[in-house]
Amino acid sequence: AVLHPAVSFSLTQTLVSQLNLCRNPFTKLQEQLIITVLGASGDLAKKLVYPALWDAYRFDSLPEDTRILGYARSKLSHEDLVERFKPQLKVNGDDDEKKRDSFLESLDYIHGQYDEAKSFKKLNEHIESMSQAKTVNRMFYIALPPSVYKDVTEQLSNHCQAKSGFTRVVVEKPFGKDLESYQDLNAHMSNLFAEDQIYRIDHYLGKEMVQNLLALRFANRVFEPSWNRHHVACVMLTMKEDFGTQGRGGYFDEFGIIRDVMQNHLLQMLTLCAMEKPVSTGPDDIRDEKTKVLRCIKPLKIEDTVLGQFVGNPEGESEESRKGYTDEEDVPNDSNTPTFATAVFHIENDRWEGVPFIIRCGKALNEKKAELRVQFRSVPADIFGNSTRNELVLRVQPDEAIYLKVLVKEPGASSEVAQTDLDLSYKCRFGEQRIPSAYERLIVSAIKGNSANFVRSDELEQAWRIFTPILHDIDAGKVKPKTYKFGSRGPSEADDLVKKHNFSYA
Ligand code: NDP
Ligand code: BG6
Repeated sequence: AVLHPAVSFSLTQTLVSQLNLCRNPFTKLQEQLIITVLGASGDLAKKLVYPALWDAYRFDSLPEDTRILGYARSKLSHEDLVERFKPQLKVNGDDDEKKRDSFLESLDYIHGQYDEAKSFKKLNEHIESMSQAKTVNRMFYIALPPSVYKDVTEQLSNHCQAKSGFTRVVVEKPFGKDLESYQDLNAHMSNLFAEDQIYRIDHYLGKEMVQNLLALRFANRVFEPSWNRHHVACVMLTMKEDFGTQGRGGYFDEFGIIRDVMQNHLLQMLTLCAMEKPVSTGPDDIRDEKTKVLRCIKPLKIEDTVLGQFVGNPEGESEESRKGYTDEEDVPNDSNTPTFATAVFHIENDRWEGVPFIIRCGKALNEKKAELRVQFRSVPADIFGNSTRNELVLRVQPDEAIYLKVLVKEPGASSEVAQTDLDLSYKCRFGEQRIPSAYERLIVSAIKGNSANFVRSDELEQAWRIFTPILHDIDAGKVKPKTYKFGSRGPSEADDLVKKHNFSYA
């Protein structure tokens, strides 16, 4: 991929157009892509979006003529951008360093408001000034707080749509706060853009092992016959983090752990695990099946959940761990926001009736991991007396792996059975083969117009339907989270709930 040098500063711009002219004096480029990151001054842009764009550029996954433009209210100079992004962009060797320098040099930025036609007309003019091809595709990545989504999308639709080529809008989560606000935002956006122009991102759908679920289930003969209520005792999905809100206390307190990760990342994994085989791997065939699963889930009830909020651990080794959630910046002392949740879901269809799907997630826990466990029923009439259950584990992070817990005879004279793993650790099997980050993968998919790993509007509507009643109860203070210590496994009541729903720790 060739990224053209920056055009933000007029001197460079002149030089660049001369360079381009010299390189290609007679023909106009056929196609160009301009990616505008709105909220380029923010945390997500710095930590995830620009590093993903860099990796896509570095590994030649961007279309040949791609330019990146940042937009936000802050007045940032080119030096500010370089200083901000350089430490975030990984390199491996001198060639990479040179490539990174040219990537950084090429970054463009303009400032403007989020609710003002004048600013977006200026943005449009700027994009036009960067456009040099017959077809200029435009992708807008909205890395902004949800409070400005409506204004920004309206302005983009009114003033910044591509004249030739596609216009696509990538929107971050949270997309709404409950069913009603979701419907309102969705109606607003559907008036402005067609569904196939909107890419609602859920970065867990870009993770290698989450994408692997479909292959594992539908490219193998061996799992499908037992992937149902006759053989599966329960399914558990876990996402634990060993840190607090990392400076995002203001955002987190408004949303809480259910809206932050359960309603989206974990529910998405659940649907991929539970869905029927799609007609094809086409985006709508996959999303049709995911939506059907969600439609079979009743709204979550309080009695099927345990909520928690972390408090400081006086014996904690780090300063962070001695602080509780309400000590975090921008979190009120009397906050009722859960930082931990365990919840049990039932999918009322032929395949899954009676099988509990347990989702556990939380901040400030004892470890950082994300995984899916399908636990099979115990063997009937166990002649060995101690056969533990088979379990298929899909470890999303850290260290991607799939392993199946099986029973074998203990080696030697013993006739006892012992548990072992059929292990597929990705690093052992595929060596140092690069696994792209979720953001890189999804950005590249959006550029290619593949929406299979983006959330469709009806899917999201179902997801909000399932969680809205309990979210309203929590917001109204009707449910109080239990406390748990920073660095612990969460409230002990969550373990009781898990046990009650048939998960057994072998
Ligand atoms: P930030 O709080 O860093 O905001 C991004 C930019 O938006 C800021 O640099 C600022 O730019 C502008 N902004 C901030 N507050 C306001 C406001 N009240 N009104 C108008 N503009 C404002 O957000 P993040 O980058 O953390 O997140 C962006 C989106 O991505 C959010 O929807 C978030 O939920 C989501 N997200 C974030 C993740 C993360 O790790 N940070 C992870 C997953 C999703 P300026 O003042 O220069 O205009
Ligand atoms: C984000 C949440 O969507 O996902 C964060 O807002 C969370 O609170 C993050 O930390 C986790 O993502 P990952 O990829 O690090 O597991």
